Amino acid sequence: MEQRVLGRTGRPVSVVGLGTWQLGADWGDVKEADALAVLDAAVESGVTFFDTADVYGDGRSEQLIGRYLKERPDAGIFVATKMGRRLDQLPENYSLANFRAWNDRSRANLGVDTLDLVQLHCPPTAVYTSDALYDALDTLVEEQRIAAYAVSVETCDEALAAIARPGVASVQIIFNPFRLKPLEKVLPAAAAAGVGIIARVPLASGLLSGKYTRETVFAADDHRAYNRHGEAFDQGETFSGVDYETGLEAAVEFAALAPEGATPAQTALRWIVQQPGVTSVIPGARNVEQARANAAAAELPALPQPVLDGVRELYDRRIRAQVHGRW
Ligand SMILES: NC(=O)c1ccc[n+]([C@@H]2O[C@H](COP(=O)([O-])OP(=O)(O)OC[C@H]3O[C@@H](n4cnc5c(N)ncnc54)[C@H](OP(=O)(O)O)[C@@H]3O)[C@@H](O)[C@H]2O)c1
Repeated sequence: MEQRVLGRTGRPVSVVGLGTWQLGADWGDVKEADALAVLDAAVESGVTFFDTADVYGDGRSEQLIGRYLKERPDAGIFVATKMGRRLDQLPENYSLANFRAWNDRSRANLGVDTLDLVQLHCPPTAVYTSDALYDALDTLVEEQRIAAYAVSVETCDEALAAIARPGVASVQIIFNPFRLKPLEKVLPAAAAAGVGIIARVPLASGLLSGKYTRETVFAADDHRAYNRHGEAFDQGETFSGVDYETGLEAAVEFAALAPEGATPAQTALRWIVQQPGVTSVIPGARNVEQARANAAAAELPALPQPVLDGVRELYDRRIRAQVHGRW
């Protein structure tokens, strides 16, 4: 699979990676053997990049990856984890002492001396302008707890603030055919600064696969049931912030844009990786079939101009009013 350098980490990662929030089993039930099988199917399909966080399953996602790394030490996998959500979202909790403790827990979970990349996990906006915070992150690099640091953001303005900092290696942001705003300033600014872009929630939580209907029932512990209106965390993380009814109708139209030989989900992933400035896309695969199909999207031919135009037109007509001004 095509590899791209992840910004200022200087390290190559596969253009299609694997998101592992779902493997923490915070939402939905994922058995351990099934989770390990998903990791293996992704790697066997060419994936060399996992995204996790210290809070996914309260460490379970990291631990499963740690177990997998131990079994496959030569697979060349780059792991990006996150920190910051184990305490209340107050700027003062983003301290060097807390960072050290969180890093040490992630190092133990993943079974590594130095973490490849640690991303601040959508911190409060005030954190982005704190010089002391970036000094603390530089200290973690000097101590070799981490090789590099990055930020996972909610808004384009937060992304631009992070990109302006010289030590930020990459930015993780929601980017998909139902979330086009990063095209305007964030992707060009990241490319100019040499900062990597990790595109998350690339399938709009599965909506872009076109498989859901009005009758689809999500489990009660699935955020797609309980966070549709941002009840538990930022609304943008669920269905990319698009109202479910609108999303269902737009997904039918998106599916009609998929070229022969590609599913709608693969078309969404292929669309993302061909936007200039994107380093890697991290779909969350719930099973082995999804992991393989998502990796295969990297091998599809570039989408032709009519499909690109169709994505833009669909966004402007159906989606823009709901999301563009907010994130
Ligand atoms: N704040 C943050 O930093 C943050 C927040 C959210 C996510 N993330 C990261 O981004 C990753 C991806 O986000 P996400 O999982 O929320 O959203 P996503 O990748 O847009 O959607 C994942 C869902 O799409 C469906 N799916 C996946 N592959 C498919 C395929 N090939 N065909 C059909 N359906 C498919 C599955 O739904 P079903 O379960 O219905 O099958 C899966 O649960 C996470 O795992 C995590 O690593 C980070």
